Amino acid sequence: MTARLFSGMQPSAESLHLGNYVGALLQWKKLQNDFDAIFCVVDLHAITVAQDPVKLREATRRTAAQYIAAGIDPESSILFVQSHVAAHPQLAWVLDTITGYGEAARMTQFKDKSQKQGADATTLGLFAYPVLMAADILLYNAEVVPVGDDQKQHVELTRDLATRFNSRFGDTFVVPEAKTLADGARIYDLQNPGSKMSKSGESPQGIVWLLDEPKAVAKKIKSAVTDTEREIRFDPKAKPGVSNLLSILSGVTGTPVAALEDHFAGKGYGDLKTETADAVVAEFEPVRTRALELLDDPAELDRLLAHNAERAAAIADETLRLAYDRVGL
Ligand code: ADP
Ligand code: NA
Repeated sequence: MTARLFSGMQPSAESLHLGNYVGALLQWKKLQNDFDAIFCVVDLHAITVAQDPVKLREATRRTAAQYIAAGIDPESSILFVQSHVAAHPQLAWVLDTITGYGEAARMTQFKDKSQKQGADATTLGLFAYPVLMAADILLYNAEVVPVGDDQKQHVELTRDLATRFNSRFGDTFVVPEAKTLADGARIYDLQNPGSKMSKSGESPQGIVWLLDEPKAVAKKIKSAVTDTEREIRFDPKAKPGVSNLLSILSGVTGTPVAALEDHFAGKGYGDLKTETADAVVAEFEPVRTRALELLDDPAELDRLLAHNAERAAAIADETLRLAYDRVGL
C-alpha cells in the first residue's frame, strides 16, 4: 500500500509567494506521485489570529485555486478546506484532554506569536493550535508530514499525543514522521536575504507573489540585493543574495546548484538575475493563468472543494469514530 502523506498551509490573503511555491507546492506536486497525498487549506488555524471574515473566505478559495494551478491533482490527491470537515475540531478536543498545559506552553511558535500579540490578544485558540494540527494529521493516519523547520516541534507533539493515546486507550493512531525541506529549498527575501521570504515580510519588493504580473516578477528579481564581489558561488553566509538567486533558479528549473555554478562561471550578476527572472516568469505564467481561470468560475471551484471535502470526511469520520469509541464517547 502507498504511504499516506498529509500537509497544509494557511490561506494567504492575496496570493502565495515564491517561498511557498518552491518550499511547499513544488515539493507537494512531486510527493503526490509517491504518496497517497492529502493537502489542506487550514482556515481553522488562520482564525487563531484576528481575520476579516470576507477576506478570509476569499483567501481560502484563492489558496485552493493556487494549489490546483500549481499542479496538485484534486482527483488523485485530496485537496480540501479544513473547516469543511467537522472531525478536525472534534478530534482536537479529545486530544486537548490528553495534552499537558506545560507541554503546550513549551511550543516555541506559541511563545513567539503570543509575545507579538500581547497577553490580551492571545487566545486559547492560539494556545491549542498545535493540538488542532495534531488532529489534522492523525485523522488521516498520515505517516509522512512535510513541514518547514518551524513546524517540526508540532509534529513532535503530534507523535507524543498519538503514542500517549495509543498506550492509554489502545492502538488507534499512526505515529507520523516529519519530513523537512531539502537544503536550498528555503527562499529568502530578495531585498533582505538574511530573512526568509514571508507574507509578513517588510519590503514589498522583496517578495514575489505567485499571482504577480510577469513584469512585476521580473522587476523584483532583477532588483534583488547581491554583494560587491563578482563571483557567482553558493555560499549563504558570505553571499546570501547571490545564493538565494541560485536557490530560486535551481528550485524552479530543477538544475542542481553545483551545475548552475559551473554554468555561470565567468558570467556576471546581471546574467544570473536575467536568467532567474526569465525562469520564474516562465514557471509562474501558466500557474497564474490557471489560478485566475479557476477563480473566474466560483461554482466549479466550490463543487470541486465540496467533492474533496466528502472524500476527506470519509477517512476522517472513521478515525474520529474509533477515537470516540476508545475513550468511551
Ligand atoms: P509565511 O512565512 O509566508 O507565513 P507559512 O509559514 O504559512 O508562510 O508557510 C507555508 C508553507 O510554505 C510551509 O510549508 C513553509 O515551509 C513554506 N514556506 C514558507 N516560506 C518559505 C520560504 N521562504 N522558503 C521555503 N518555503 C517556505
Ligand atoms: Na498520489
